[in-house]
Amino acid sequence: MDRDTAEVRVDSFPGERAREWVERHHEHAAPSTYVYDFVWDITEDAVGPFCTDVDGNVLLDFTAHVASAPLGYNNPKILEKLESFDLVDPMKIAGQDFYVSGGGSVEDPDLPGPTQLLDRLTDATSHYALDTAFLSNSGAEAVENAIKICYAERGHRGVTFDGAFHGRTLGALSLNRSKAVQRRGFPEVPGVLSLPYCACEGECTCGWKTDGPGGNRLADALHPTRGPVPADELAFVILEPQQGEGGYRVANDEFARDIAAAKEEHGFKVISDEIQSGLGRTGEMWGIDHLDLDPDVITSAKGLRVGATVANEDLFPEETGRLSSTWGAGDLLASAQGVATIEAIHEHDLLANVRERGRQFTDLLTDLDSEYVTDVRGRGLMLAIELDSKERRGALMKACLTRGLLTLGCGHKTLRLLPPLDATEREIDLGFAILADALDDPRVTQAGAGGDVV
Ligand SMILES: Cc1ncc(COP(=O)(O)O)c(C=O)c1O
Repeated sequence: MDRDTAEVRVDSFPGERAREWVERHHEHAAPSTYVYDFVWDITEDAVGPFCTDVDGNVLLDFTAHVASAPLGYNNPKILEKLESFDLVDPMKIAGQDFYVSGGGSVEDPDLPGPTQLLDRLTDATSHYALDTAFLSNSGAEAVENAIKICYAERGHRGVTFDGAFHGRTLGALSLNRSKAVQRRGFPEVPGVLSLPYCACEGECTCGWKTDGPGGNRLADALHPTRGPVPADELAFVILEPQQGEGGYRVANDEFARDIAAAKEEHGFKVISDEIQSGLGRTGEMWGIDHLDLDPDVITSAKGLRVGATVANEDLFPEETGRLSSTWGAGDLLASAQGVATIEAIHEHDLLANVRERGRQFTDLLTDLDSEYVTDVRGRGLMLAIELDSKERRGALMKACLTRGLLTLGCGHKTLRLLPPLDATEREIDLGFAILADALDDPRVTQAGAGGDVV
């Protein structure tokens, strides 16, 4: 498949073989959150955003596997490294008990591993003096360890924001405020206060700004005489610089400055959850780079292929066994992919590409003359359109899919669009054309304008 000429082609979706795979998978899989019957066939052609499913349909993937495959399919930079290396067993070791070398020298190993990943990652966070990382297996674990190191420093209270999503382990779950179904009935970490996430454009109408003693909800809560939260008990404030699950809402600049001012005054730690917005997705290495707010901890995962909690060395407990994980820093393939991804971002100037392609896509979406699209938002290639109803959003996702474009939902009625970071002008045009055409699909035009909010 040639990336420059590849075309989307759908015969029937889901096809017969996809139905078979899905049915068999669900014989023993816990019922979960599968979005639609897309079965990628790894033995068939795939390149960039194009992939082939089990029925031979060629699809354009604007989900990047929920930002977990930031360079799309079969990126030569990643494949080159993996193909030149003979697999060994085990490829996954108990990486926080033992070390591993990928051959060659530590400066130039045959296969870069966890040691190199730590190096590249902390290079990418050095502008915040975050020079140390704890590697784990997932985003949720990256968040768990972030809050643990903040709790270890001081206090047992935390602040999260409306619409937040930080993962599904019980600690991370306690910080979620996006969908009720995630937390309902589960025990939670105590002491978490939720405040409005200000994504207001122009004047603040979300309730973040107040007439109270501090002028905003955080400063009011921590006010020395009139606030309900003793400031020295607040361990952390955690935020996504651009919310993911919560609907691709972008943090307002003033809101970020308010958090920075409160941090300066009260000394709590700021955790920037970059699990979805990090690694170049927004056109900067980290989503927080767009804001006047310096994080004390960055969490990364998804596109990094391993979980990572990055902070200054001083914030990590020294005592052996205080933080640990069998597979943390032990996944050799994932570490190599993580290193190659960071290197590709630098070598191919992908931040510039994300900004340029992001502008192209945003302009096209903004010019869309559709009565159903109520908002276009996001930064770089972390983009979304909001529909006038949840039902219409669902219908649009399906209409895109049957035309060969993979998209995802988020928020209540938002459709997210995540092309690979190295997307070309042609690929953005192609995806946009399918989306525009899908908006005229009868399933979309006939969907209700109301719809439930879950
Ligand atoms: C912002 C954010 N934080 C945390 C997580 C949890 O990551 P994981 O699913 O790898 O545990 C996600 C996953 O979607 C996320 O988007």
